[in-house]
Amino acid sequence: MESIYRYTSVYYVAVFALILTSVQYTNGALLSKETRKLINRANRNGPYLGLVIPNLFEMNPLLNSSDYTPVDPVIDISGRRFRFGTIGDQPVISVMTGLGMINAGITTQLLLSLFEVEGVIHYGIAGNANPSLNIGDVAIPQYWAHTALWNWQRYGQGTDNELALEANGDYTREIGYLKFANYTSNVTGSDSSYDNLLNNIWYQPEEVFPVDGTPEQREHAFWVPVDPFYYEVAKTLKDLTLERCVNSTTCLSTTPKVYTVQRGTSASIYLDNAAYRSFIYNKFNVSPVDMESAAVALISLQQRVPYIAIRALSDLAGGGSADSNEADTFISLAADNSIIALLAFVKQLSAIKKISSI
Ligand SMILES: *[C@@H]1O[C@H](CO)[C@@H](O)[C@H](O)[C@H]1NC(C)=O
Ligand SMILES: *[C@@H]1O[C@H](CO)[C@@H](O)[C@H](O)[C@H]1NC(C)=O
Ligand SMILES: *[C@@H]1O[C@H](CO)[C@@H](O)[C@H](O)[C@H]1NC(C)=O
Ligand SMILES: *[C@@H]1O[C@H](CO)[C@@H](O)[C@H](O)[C@H]1NC(C)=O
Repeated sequence: MESIYRYTSVYYVAVFALILTSVQYTNGALLSKETRKLINRANRNGPYLGLVIPNLFEMNPLLNSSDYTPVDPVIDISGRRFRFGTIGDQPVISVMTGLGMINAGITTQLLLSLFEVEGVIHYGIAGNANPSLNIGDVAIPQYWAHTALWNWQRYGQGTDNELALEANGDYTREIGYLKFANYTSNVTGSDSSYDNLLNNIWYQPEEVFPVDGTPEQREHAFWVPVDPFYYEVAKTLKDLTLERCVNSTTCLSTTPKVYTVQRGTSASIYLDNAAYRSFIYNKFNVSPVDMESAAVALISLQQRVPYIAIRALSDLAGGGSADSNEADTFISLAADNSIIALLAFVKQLSAIKKISSI
């Protein structure tokens, strides 16, 4: 009996070792020899513009566009697919990130670590917080910030109290805060004593570790500027003709346009709340609100690669626009408009590069 057990356990150890080896092999294969070869070959055709795209519905219309020519093969790395192509004679790498800040950050880091990339262009759809813009418009902000790194303040404390760990330089009261009690509803005008146990959240800058800084020595960044030259190029798109109609019967009530705007914000939060929308508009002068752009901005900042984001507005975050229900109805029109603006931007950029290289 005992010897059978012993035999069995030897067998299990062997199987376990086999599993371990194959797991190690899988993990170690982030860059197999074959993948490294493909990357080296691809990089000989660079430098590329990196097109970082949140979702398939924003990427597929680009891949299908007559202005885009694919170049084989694709390279799959860490669950991402890097696709190669040209827009005019500008080589581009397109990659889909998936939803949210972590996906956007990881994907951008992979792109910039592995490939010869001269600049990053992020595009897609976004919610709108700016009442002077409309659904279907394309917004190209000069600054992006991640607005969900918070210090959530203890109840009973306020603006005059130091935040937890503020003295260490970990947190700051410089950027400002949201006060929950300000959004109490159904209180009568005369009652000014209402309060909220959720108290205040204070916005915080990101810790960043630039490629040319000292490793492990943090710097801080809240408003991340896009590349100033790219921003100037974006201003030339203001008269671009965008799509106005979903089909023969459903059209926007205004003619959509491309706008360069001051600011956009991102967080891994789907914003569909009018009170918060107007808070961040009033506090930060934000136009597009999305879930990825600031992550792409923060990685590009740290890698010192020029960056810009082009976001078409698909809905008034929280509702209430003249065009009825928004996100569902106009999502594909907004995606198309973001691609029209992207294509025009890339063409304009390569035309300027050509002139300046003569
Ligand atoms: C792109 O083209 C393919 C094949 O022609 C089609 O199946 C797909 O639906 C198209 N996608 C978009 C978003 O137009
Ligand atoms: C809260 O509301 C008061 C009164 O309207 C306003 O003065 C204050 O700026 C608001 N505070 C915040 C953090 O939004
Ligand atoms: C709060 O007020 C709004 C608007 O006046 C009303 O529609 C809603 O039913 C009220 N909610 C509660 C919980 O009383
Ligand atoms: C046009 O699009 C709208 C919104 O998606 C839809 O409700 C309507 O049925 C469409 N009309 C036609 C003619 O396809």
